[in-house]
Amino acid sequence: MDQFQSLPPVSTSHRRRLEPINTPDRLLLGPGPSNAHPTVLQALSRTPIGHLDPLYVELMGEVQELLRYAWQTDNRLTIPMSGTGSAAMEATLANTVEPGDKVLVAIKGYFGLRLADMAGRYRADVVTIERPWGEAFSLEELEEALATHRPAILAMVHAETSTGICQPMDGIGALCRNYDCLLLLDTVTSLGGVPLFLDDWGVDLAYSCSQKGLSCPPGLGPFTMGPRAEAKMMARQGKVPNWYLDVTLLNQYWGSDRVYHHTAPVNMNFGMREALRLLAEEGLENAWARHRSNAERLWSGLESLGLELHAPEHLRLPTLTTVRIPDGVDGKAFSLHLLNKHGIEVGGGLGALAGKVWRIGLMGYNSRPENVDRLLNLFETELPAFKAQAERPVAAVA
Ligand SMILES: Cc1ncc(COP(=O)(O)O)c(C=O)c1O
Repeated sequence: MDQFQSLPPVSTSHRRRLEPINTPDRLLLGPGPSNAHPTVLQALSRTPIGHLDPLYVELMGEVQELLRYAWQTDNRLTIPMSGTGSAAMEATLANTVEPGDKVLVAIKGYFGLRLADMAGRYRADVVTIERPWGEAFSLEELEEALATHRPAILAMVHAETSTGICQPMDGIGALCRNYDCLLLLDTVTSLGGVPLFLDDWGVDLAYSCSQKGLSCPPGLGPFTMGPRAEAKMMARQGKVPNWYLDVTLLNQYWGSDRVYHHTAPVNMNFGMREALRLLAEEGLENAWARHRSNAERLWSGLESLGLELHAPEHLRLPTLTTVRIPDGVDGKAFSLHLLNKHGIEVGGGLGALAGKVWRIGLMGYNSRPENVDRLLNLFETELPAFKAQAERPVAAVA
């Protein structure tokens, strides 16, 4: 009997009749995602091709090569992981941590906490050092912690999106080598927007995302692993405990063998290729200088409106600015107003900074003077009403 002949009636309880998608145009000036570049959007909407098509295989090599350029690394194992930044974050730990390995996480914000959580899930012996949310680590502090704990891996965030702090990297890689420890760096909010020199800095493992400085939508998590980390991965006793993110398997597809692992999100990689092509065309130095000058324009504009920046100037991230919400102002109400009235997204604070700061991102395609001026104008003309509301005496309740 035909297996399709005696089917039960189809339930319609979850059936919905929807209009085709019609999202408004927003200007995304929050912590990410940022707006994608128009030609990246065009690349994404091309007809998919097979993930083993020779044309796609060629594109894979181009993406890997341009990621190496963006990160300033020669790492062979450089792969855009399918998934967001957190997938690539997880890949760095899943491939190198063995149960009982000591992992030292230097936490100065929300994403350091996530690194510590993930490392623990791979059964690392996690030790942490912490700085207040708005500060960075000194070399001395890191050295003291390395000497005390003797970890296998030091994990830290370069560009802390929760605080707007950029960790100075001078000397950290050399220190890690002295203590025979791998250096793992989160570059989610720095890639494409802030100087990064992975090889010069002695970074062994790094990851990022597609949706910030690279002007792509979310969906890929660039990952890179240097020779010291690769040696640790190859010497592990057991299998990598995460099949999807196992670089020994993934490299059979991304390396020369081209063995199927999972169906690659081909269109995301079309977008990634276009985003990286644009970055290479602009040149890293120019992209970094553009992010810096637009951030400075924002900083001085905000300060001239009497607003205070949370991060000290020498540690400020060009891609993400934390602005203190003035006393009495309902920060959420103002950001909702910007979104609903003007179609502009800015972020609120996370964790220790919840309710205390706005987070303004100027990343990738969005790092442009006209975006800065548009936002500053709204802070100038529309924030005063929110201050006035806060200052209005509370009506007496009978
Ligand atoms: C510094 C940092 N690390 C990791 C992540 C996680 O990336 P995703 O949200 O793309 O998974 C983010 C996200 O914004 C981030 O800002």
